[in-house]
Amino acid sequence: MEKDARIYVAGHRGLVGSAIVRALQTQGFTNLILRTRQELDLTDQHAVAEFFAQEKPEYVFLAAAKVGGIMANKTYPADFIYGNLAVQNNVINNAYLHKTKKLLFLGSSCIYPKLCPQPIKEEYLLTGELELTNKAYAIAKIAGIIECQSYNEQYGTNFISLMPTNLYGPHDNFDLESSHVMPAMVRKFHDAKMNNAPHVTLWGTGSAQREFLHVDDLADASLFLMENYNDSSIINVGAGEDITIKELAEMVKKVIGFKGEIMWDATKPDGTPRKLLDVSKLHSLGWKHQIPLDEGITAAYQWFTENTETKRA
Ligand SMILES: NC(=O)c1ccc[n+]([C@@H]2O[C@H](COP(=O)([O-])OP(=O)(O)OC[C@H]3O[C@@H](n4cnc5c(N)ncnc54)[C@H](OP(=O)(O)O)[C@@H]3O)[C@@H](O)[C@H]2O)c1
Repeated sequence: MEKDARIYVAGHRGLVGSAIVRALQTQGFTNLILRTRQELDLTDQHAVAEFFAQEKPEYVFLAAAKVGGIMANKTYPADFIYGNLAVQNNVINNAYLHKTKKLLFLGSSCIYPKLCPQPIKEEYLLTGELELTNKAYAIAKIAGIIECQSYNEQYGTNFISLMPTNLYGPHDNFDLESSHVMPAMVRKFHDAKMNNAPHVTLWGTGSAQREFLHVDDLADASLFLMENYNDSSIINVGAGEDITIKELAEMVKKVIGFKGEIMWDATKPDGTPRKLLDVSKLHSLGWKHQIPLDEGITAAYQWFTENTETKRA
C-alpha cells in the first residue's frame, strides 16, 4: 500500500476499525476515508454504491459488522443475519465494481464448528455443526468468506479473509446486555469496586479455556496481511495460547483492584470447553503478537476509566 493510497476503513468507530485507523496513522498512511453510520448506512445499497462511485477506495478494511455476545446473539438473530449479510453484500460487490485493489474481510473464531479439534486449524471451517447460540451470525460471516472467495475465483479480485480470536481493547463494547466476556468482566469488577460490593458473580464454572488478543495486535496483523497475504484461503489471527476463564477473572480483578470475592453461577452455561486457534500459518509468514495479556488488560482498563463519557455503556 502506498502511503497516500485511498484507504476506506468501514466501521472505524468500533473496536477493530478504530485500532486499524490508529495503526494506519502510526505507519504514516495519510489518505483515510472514514464514514460514521449516520453518514453512510452500509445496509443501504444505493448509498453504498454512490459512496464507492465517488470515493473509489483502493483498499478496504471491512470492520463494520453487527457484533455481540451470547445474550445479544440469542435475542436478536434476525438483526445479526440481516445486518451482516447486507453490509457485506454491499461493500464486497461495490469493491469489485469499483476496482478496489484489495479488501480485507473479518470472520471470527466463533464461526468454526462447535466441537472442533483443538487448536483449530483453518481447514476445520464447515466441517461440523455450528454453535446454536450464534448460528445466524456465523452463517452470515461464512457467507462473507465464501463471497470473497467467489469474487476472487470469478473476477480475479484480491479479497482476503481473517479469522480473529476473541479481541479486547479501547473502544470495546462494555454494555452488559451485548458485550463479550472480557469487557463484561471489566465492567462488572469496576462497578463492584465502585459500589464496595462484597462479591462479583460470573457465569459458568470458570473452567472453559479461551484465547484473547489485544485489538492493536489484530490491527498490526491486518496491515501485515494486507501487505503480505494474497490468498483466498482464510487465515487465523490469534495469540496461540489460552487461559481458563477463572484465570482471566483473577487477572481482571487484580488489574481493577477489586478486593471482594468471585462467585461462580454454575447454573449458567460454560459454552465450548476450549477454543484456541492454530496460528502456525500466520507465524510461518513471520507475524507474532506482541502485547502480553496482563499489559493489554491494564491498558484496556485505563482506556475504560478515561473515557467514561464516550464509551459504549
Ligand atoms: N470483538 C471481537 O472479539 C471480534 C472477534 C473476532 C472477530 N471480530 C470481527 O471484527 C469485526 C469488527 O468487530 P468489532 O468488535 O470491532 O465490532 P464493533 O466494535 O461493534 O464495531 C462495529 C462497527 O461497525 C459499524 N456498523 C455496524 N453496522 C453498520 C452499518 N449498517 N452501517 C455503518 N456502520 C455499521 C458500527 O457502527 P455503530 O457504532 O454506529 O453501530 C461499529 O462502528 C467484525 O466483523 C467481527 O466479526 C470481532
